[in-house]
Amino acid sequence: MNEDSNKIVTARAPGKLMIMGEHAVVYGYPCIVSAIDKYIEVKLTKSEVPEDTIQTPGVSDNRFITVTLETFRKKFGKNDFFTIGTKSDITGFGLGSSSAATVALVKALLSFYEISLDNKKIFDMCFEIVKSVQGEGSGFDIAAAIYGGTLYFVTGGKKIEELPVNSLPVIVGFSGIKADTVKQVSMVKEKMQKYGKSIMAIFENISRLTEEAKQRITEKDWVRVGKLFNYNQDCLESLGVSTEKLNGMVIAARIAGAYGAKLSGAGGGDCMIALVSDENREAVKEAVKSAGGEIINI
Ligand code: MEV
Repeated sequence: MNEDSNKIVTARAPGKLMIMGEHAVVYGYPCIVSAIDKYIEVKLTKSEVPEDTIQTPGVSDNRFITVTLETFRKKFGKNDFFTIGTKSDITGFGLGSSSAATVALVKALLSFYEISLDNKKIFDMCFEIVKSVQGEGSGFDIAAAIYGGTLYFVTGGKKIEELPVNSLPVIVGFSGIKADTVKQVSMVKEKMQKYGKSIMAIFENISRLTEEAKQRITEKDWVRVGKLFNYNQDCLESLGVSTEKLNGMVIAARIAGAYGAKLSGAGGGDCMIALVSDENREAVKEAVKSAGGEIINI
């Protein structure tokens, strides 16, 4: 028995909230994403039998684990087998659990073998894994899980810039429906094929709003950022990815005094976010609840 047999390694990665720029970011435009203070934790030990034992509650698709193991073994020429477990605070709300699980497992494996890799290399490896499992996606959720904070991000990690802001004054409402991101992205792709120019015009508008939001978030100009949220929501509605339930929660938040509100992520369900002041935070939460939303405390 060598010393590795007793080694227990844990690593965790945070979930994400898309702030501005969803869908457009799949087509080469920027988005803004924040990591949240909820995590998925991966624990691994070396397996005593020549196979992996994977018990990963909170990871909806085990391929994120198996493909990560395969990719890591190939890349670093390692042949060990592992017992892997997970604990998740973020599953089921569209808060990025699959990407966070991939990142946490890569970090745990790096730590097990005492390999150091810079964040961009970890990003490239995780992006390759998530793309091969999911087929679609910009990689913004992987960046949030690796870098943390609030990021200005361009498709595939072409740009990853940390914005100088500690936290954003948002509340999060879950619509009660788990969205299918791949389906939503495919639906937009179909529209792109049929109405290319009109869809590109929507993406260009989203991109302009996102560029301004980058500046205004840095200035903490929440009144203006709220307006940008609202315009971004209008664009997402014209793209056809919002739902009646999300719209109802967004409007309720605005009426209760939020600076602005929008869906967050792929749409079709999952969450909405509202930008709030300390004074109206509780009123906005109550309004979102009255519209049928569940508040996720982050
Ligand atoms: C999904 O949360 C956000 C999308 O922009 C997809 C992606 O960027 O990977 C719709």
